[in-house]
Amino acid sequence: MIISSLSTALIFLFYLAFYGFLAGMFSLTMWVMLQTLDDHTPKYRDRVANPGLMIRPKSLDIEFNRSIPLQYTKYVQHLEVFLQKYNDSLQENNVACPQGMYYEQDDVEEKKVCQFKRSVLRQCSGLADSTFGYSEGQPCVLVKMNRVIGLKPRGDPHILCSAKGDCLDMLPNSCSLAVFHFTIALECLCRDPEDPDELVFGCECCEASLLLLRETPLQMQYFPDEGALDKSYFPYYGKKRHGGYVQPVVAVKLLLGEDDYNTELTVECKVEGSDLLNNDDRDKFLGRVTFRVNVHK
Ligand SMILES: *[C@@H]1O[C@H](CO)[C@@H](O)[C@H](O)[C@H]1NC(C)=O
Ligand SMILES: *[C@@H]1O[C@H](CO)[C@@H](O)[C@H](O)[C@H]1NC(C)=O
Repeated sequence: MIISSLSTALIFLFYLAFYGFLAGMFSLTMWVMLQTLDDHTPKYRDRVANPGLMIRPKSLDIEFNRSIPLQYTKYVQHLEVFLQKYNDSLQENNVACPQGMYYEQDDVEEKKVCQFKRSVLRQCSGLADSTFGYSEGQPCVLVKMNRVIGLKPRGDPHILCSAKGDCLDMLPNSCSLAVFHFTIALECLCRDPEDPDELVFGCECCEASLLLLRETPLQMQYFPDEGALDKSYFPYYGKKRHGGYVQPVVAVKLLLGEDDYNTELTVECKVEGSDLLNNDDRDKFLGRVTFRVNVHK
């Protein structure tokens, strides 16, 4: 009796020590592992990632009747909420960085933030027109680029949008030699890929495009000018070290014409003019974003 309870106690003690040892071992390796990590930058990344594009309002399907405020208030609210941190009075506390060059602060512990005032977005700032153009049927969409730590885009990155069906947009890659010629019936002429001097009617690429063709491109207005994403907003140093950072945004005002109402428009915006990728086959948000707009009147 005594012996068996003694051996039970021994077994219990053994397991206690055994599991205690395992737990200790686990914590130790975990702790050693964590010591090798940096609080500020991800450990494993082979190269700086390419950023994706997103739009505000938070919807890739924007549809409303411009005469019925209830149908667009949610879009206006998204924009208003998003722009809170770009408030001019708030941004006054940040640095007016020199434009056109990176604002590098590698050696500084406290990273400063370059100011981006919403008033820069003019007609799309929501200041003069609190409906961001939705009530007049010429809605604004904000295009923003996802934050990527350490990203320094080369060249002059800017946002460029086009409506599907715009003549230039419609040229499929395989048919880059095609030349469109519009007649009243919207017939088109293409160069014969076999014999570029020869013009033929309705070659395949034209047929495919005809249904979607617009006679004039959709007019758009960009804020800031030319849709520029100024270099001074790069690089970004991460949430912890670069608190209060605001990423640059580009506002696109869609200047819909009479023919553009009550039809679904597909608009694609891309980041152009830099080394950032915008045509990855597998990731359709890499450096670009496509959304639909249907404004009723
Ligand atoms: C933004 O600015 C407006 C006026 O410029 C002010 O009324 C409002 O309270 C500000 N909002 C924030 C979050 O600072
Ligand atoms: C949009 O709203 C106006 C006013 O209520 C209405 O007259 C018009 O028919 C609506 N348009 C569409 C396409 O529903």
